[in-house]
Amino acid sequence: MTSNKSDSAKPRLLTGDTPTGRLHLGHWVGSLENRVALQDQYDCYFILANVHAFTTRYERPEEVRQSTLDIALDYLAAGIDPQKSTIFIQSEIPAIAELTFFFSMLVPFPRVMRNPTIKDEIRDKGLGDNYPFGFLLYPVGQVADILAFRPEIVPVGEDQVPHLELSREIARRFNQIYCDVDSHTSDSDYIKAGGLFPIIQPLLGRVKRLVGTGGPGENGQLLKMSKSLNNSIMLSDDADTIRKKVMGMYTDPKRLKATDPGTIENNPLWIFHDTFNHDKLWVEETKERYRAGTVGDVECKKKLVEVLIELIQPMQQRRTEYASDPGQVLAILEEGTARANAIAEKTLAAAKKAMHQDYFSRTLYFEHE
Ligand code: TRP
Repeated sequence: MTSNKSDSAKPRLLTGDTPTGRLHLGHWVGSLENRVALQDQYDCYFILANVHAFTTRYERPEEVRQSTLDIALDYLAAGIDPQKSTIFIQSEIPAIAELTFFFSMLVPFPRVMRNPTIKDEIRDKGLGDNYPFGFLLYPVGQVADILAFRPEIVPVGEDQVPHLELSREIARRFNQIYCDVDSHTSDSDYIKAGGLFPIIQPLLGRVKRLVGTGGPGENGQLLKMSKSLNNSIMLSDDADTIRKKVMGMYTDPKRLKATDPGTIENNPLWIFHDTFNHDKLWVEETKERYRAGTVGDVECKKKLVEVLIELIQPMQQRRTEYASDPGQVLAILEEGTARANAIAEKTLAAAKKAMHQDYFSRTLYFEHE
């Protein structure tokens, strides 16, 4: 097998994405930025949750494959360094599927339906009552993604918090039932008390919910950046596309000319400056002028274009390099998947032992042509 970087003494980090489209600025500030920054301190594992993409796209397998590779490229472009971190493919980690089945016994079915993210997804994706059984299973699958790696931290966006809560519930129950951990044990002591699985708190990004470039929805609230709402700036957008999107973005609708006093609140232009512009002095001074009607939207938008291009340009360079060699990207995924399997197999073996289902040991062989 390939060199095993997982032996590193650093604490482990796990997170990932469901490949249903490329990543955008909301992903960047919600989690990706954290991941890039934490690579030196943590032994990082990034899962491409392609099996979960089938919950809503089982009829479009080619698209799931393309998205999986696109997101791998987004990661590498964003600065995830394959020399430091491990990127791997969910469907190639059999231990995850196996743990999912065992974990699903530890969750009462009505509990699954009380997951607010599941409710939101059913509504937002218009699933009605016609979603597959596997859709309801995916939060348990996500718990297996996480616990297979027994990580210290899991950086995620706010929408993932209910899934992390489920991981805590399942980990507590597993530890209590199969590892004899007392139910009064405090969350931070479960491992010390003989538990196999840690009770994990989510690490939220600096911006919990980035708005999109468009106006408010039916309820008057600005909508979250989301590829399906066509209000996203993608990490893969080139400079011209960024310019076009920013110059056309929604601002204060009551402001018809540069001399009208403008509103800062609930104005995506200023939310974006607050989020991405490091020149805080410029932001504060220009907000004052905007309120007073002494600076135009166009000038503020042009500044935002500069700021975003500065963020995305280094990503473009790395993207071009990796994209010119798809074989290299696949090799990175293959090596990462092998490293991930080494860890997940160990966890599964320990879990089976705790469950008295350790009849004999097994070794998975990965044969290559
Ligand atoms: N559900 C997550 C999302 O859609 C992706 C995901 C799958 C994940 N498994 C995970 C995130 C494990 C964190 C940890 O974004």
